[in-house]
Amino acid sequence: MQNKNLGMKVEKYHEPVLLSEALEYLDIEYLARLHGTWVLDATVGFAGHTIEIAKRGVNVVGIDADPEVIKIAEARVRQACPASKGFGSILLANANFRDIDAVLKYHRIESVDGVLFDLGVSSFHFEERDRGFSFRYHDAPLDMRLNRSTQAVTAATLLNVLSKSQLESMFSEVVGNHTARKLAVEIVKHREEKKFAVVGDLIEVVRAVGLKSGKIDPATKVFMALRIAVNSELDNLNVALAKSFSYLNKDARMVVISFHSGEDTIVKNFFRRVENEGLAEIITKKPVVPSEKEVALNPKSRSAKLRCIKKRICQEEKPNL
Ligand SMILES: C[S@@+](CC[C@H](N)C(=O)[O-])C[C@H]1O[C@@H](n2cnc3c(N)ncnc32)[C@H](O)[C@@H]1O
Repeated sequence: MQNKNLGMKVEKYHEPVLLSEALEYLDIEYLARLHGTWVLDATVGFAGHTIEIAKRGVNVVGIDADPEVIKIAEARVRQACPASKGFGSILLANANFRDIDAVLKYHRIESVDGVLFDLGVSSFHFEERDRGFSFRYHDAPLDMRLNRSTQAVTAATLLNVLSKSQLESMFSEVVGNHTARKLAVEIVKHREEKKFAVVGDLIEVVRAVGLKSGKIDPATKVFMALRIAVNSELDNLNVALAKSFSYLNKDARMVVISFHSGEDTIVKNFFRRVENEGLAEIITKKPVVPSEKEVALNPKSRSAKLRCIKKRICQEEKPNL
């Protein structure tokens, strides 16, 4: 990919959600005064949050599971944060956040002064036709993998091989039991005639089930549930929250921005658990949501919820979470 194309992609797709709120809850101004502090951005994306943190003089180790995304982040960081300008350092890695420990070990970072998760996928994924995340491109491969080199199982594979009850449970969290059952029946019927291969195959199923359209296209949630399963998003989040918490220094904060109830429930439960165990204090009693102005400027931010905790114990007393 040439730099010129990368530049176009970045401009077209970049819009960090809850940016000022994330910086405020991470207490970046305070971290900047301490010098030599490190924040882990577990979902670097196009480095929107990363760059703003580094611009304030705080170092960032940023990771993203998608190798295409990390390339764009690298180009963007080079442009926005030239090494000589007194910005914080930025180290980027293509890795899954469930392997946060390996990334930190590789960089010889023993603890961090803040952790940020901005969950899900980005507009880039929906705009890139051949990635199969969007239900708009009917002839695109039904893929949805964040990393096409390391992940073997595509969305089409899941639809072709899961049993009816596995399909039902995969969809039930996001679309409810009743719809999940109907989808599972229709998927099995469809694949007996024709294997799932492209986005249009799943659209046929969604239409056949006759899901009611409200404000959003009924395919939205079906595609989301499938994407979550393909990328083991909830399992990875569970692992990564515990791992990254164990790297937080005393009084350091973890900020998580989630976009659907499956993610938010995991975050909420994890935060409650570490608070109940006396390891952390929940800073956001209620989730912080985007302002009306942000939603008007960036409608995709409308479902975002930000939660924050502050670690209470010393790193030496690191629990085995
Ligand atoms: C909402 S975007 C982040 C946007 C970023 N904060 C910005 O402002 O540019 C979420 C990113 O997380 C990445 N991601 C999702 N699951 C991941 C995982 N398990 N490990 C690492 N990165 C992941 C996606 O590839 C995507 O680029």
